[in-house]
Amino acid sequence: MTIDTAKRAAQLLCSIAKPETAVILGTGLDIMEQALTIEHSVEYTDIPGFAVSSVASHAGKMIFGRLGQCPVVVMSGRFHLYEGYSPQEVTFPVRVFKLMGVKRILISNAAGGLRKDLVPGSAMIITDHINFTGRNPLVGENNEEMGPRFPDMTCPYSPLLLHKARDYAKRSDLELKEGVYVQVLGPSMETAAETRMLRIMGADAVGMSTVMEVNQAVHCGMEVMAISAITNNNDPDDYRPAPIEEVISMAKIAGPTIAGIFSSVLNS
Ligand code: HPA
Repeated sequence: MTIDTAKRAAQLLCSIAKPETAVILGTGLDIMEQALTIEHSVEYTDIPGFAVSSVASHAGKMIFGRLGQCPVVVMSGRFHLYEGYSPQEVTFPVRVFKLMGVKRILISNAAGGLRKDLVPGSAMIITDHINFTGRNPLVGENNEEMGPRFPDMTCPYSPLLLHKARDYAKRSDLELKEGVYVQVLGPSMETAAETRMLRIMGADAVGMSTVMEVNQAVHCGMEVMAISAITNNNDPDDYRPAPIEEVISMAKIAGPTIAGIFSSVLNS
């Protein structure tokens, strides 16, 4: 997973188009493709260095198109630590985006709500995160071409994009939720005791992705926005299973809301 491989991948993708905005679609959120005007798509298997997503709910293709009027490159399917990929493999596409000239990245995921008001089917804008994986894609020799050794994390999520999202919500009478996302390693779902701990730690939603990509994107100097599709609500005092089928079907309900927010922040 060398920088040379990333450069080859970037060169191939740039020969198709050079959008300045990248989007990552999370579990069940390929429904957001419906909001895109699709111009081209490339299978991950045809891109140098790309891993193959082993999760059935994730496709594995890079889509070029427009969200509203804005040119975008969209990852339909992402890589997870729980699949056995290293943090560097999980975030390889973000480094490729950087080499392509991408300036901002909009990330979505499916997550369990840890606050009562975060009900299945709703969307939560991530205002900050907790890395509870013990992993980081930036461990190892620093690549100065990408960014600094100790990236500042005082403001990982773009205040400007957040401001635009709030504006859109007000205009469209959308009750926009905001909160802190915690990434756990997975693939086991959390126990009730772990859920209680995550709440006490200050997390509002829990999932198994995103923080690796955000850390890499911040390192690369990109503007970042991330939104969770809340697919289940985890109450440690009334703890219930959240089967993957439910996660996917609830993500599909939140998908259009997230697509609407992404589209509005890119077109206003
Ligand atoms: N926990 C972890 N990951 C998740 C959850 C959850 O409750 N829901 C969707 N992804």
